[in-house]
Amino acid sequence: MAELSPLLADRWSPLAFDPGVELTRDQLTSLLEAARWAPSIGNTQPWRFLVGRRGDETYKRIFANLSSQNRRWAGRASALLVAAHTVTDPATRAAYDLGQAVAHLTIQATALRLHVHQMAGFDAAGLRDELELPAEVQPHIVVAIGRLGDPRSLPEDLRRRETALRSRRPLAELMLR
Ligand SMILES: Cc1cc2nc3c(=O)[nH]c(=O)nc-3n(C[C@H](O)[C@H](O)[C@H](O)COP(=O)(O)O)c2cc1C
Repeated sequence: MAELSPLLADRWSPLAFDPGVELTRDQLTSLLEAARWAPSIGNTQPWRFLVGRRGDETYKRIFANLSSQNRRWAGRASALLVAAHTVTDPATRAAYDLGQAVAHLTIQATALRLHVHQMAGFDAAGLRDELELPAEVQPHIVVAIGRLGDPRSLPEDLRRRETALRSRRPLAELMLR
């Protein structure tokens, strides 16, 4: 296999986070700076973020709007981040741009020896109400961020998922020609 940068090769989405770890302001700022410097169409920078740190009110409100499946593990993450984008001209690529910003954040997290787990499983309308998000902002994904935890802290089915081999389609299958 061709060699990948360790920043990419070491990234994966864990379910077990260490509940004893808190993120520092510097770490959070560093993650958000990575997102801020992502490319976007016409430099529109449509991404908007809201961060809760474990124990604070924002975290509790984000957590309460996760799907029941995600609530089984995400409460041990050090931070929950709502990644949203502005809803402007549909011809722009706001969701695509936001995805790149989150990818940047994820790679920066690896550089800080942190892990990230993105979640589409959440109630967007509930989150919007509870966090009083402005109408022109669409929450797109919630991101759990923290230090890797012990898989033995997970219920049996999640532990099996956590320790299963990860896989990808072969490159040849992805190439159209
Ligand atoms: C847009 C998006 C939404 C996702 N939603 C969820 C989710 O709601 N719950 C969950 O456990 N994992 C979720 N994931 C994580 C994926 O299942 C995971 O990235 C994928 O299985 C590949 O595993 P890896 O990230 O460890 O390489 C999501 C990932 C992405 C990119």
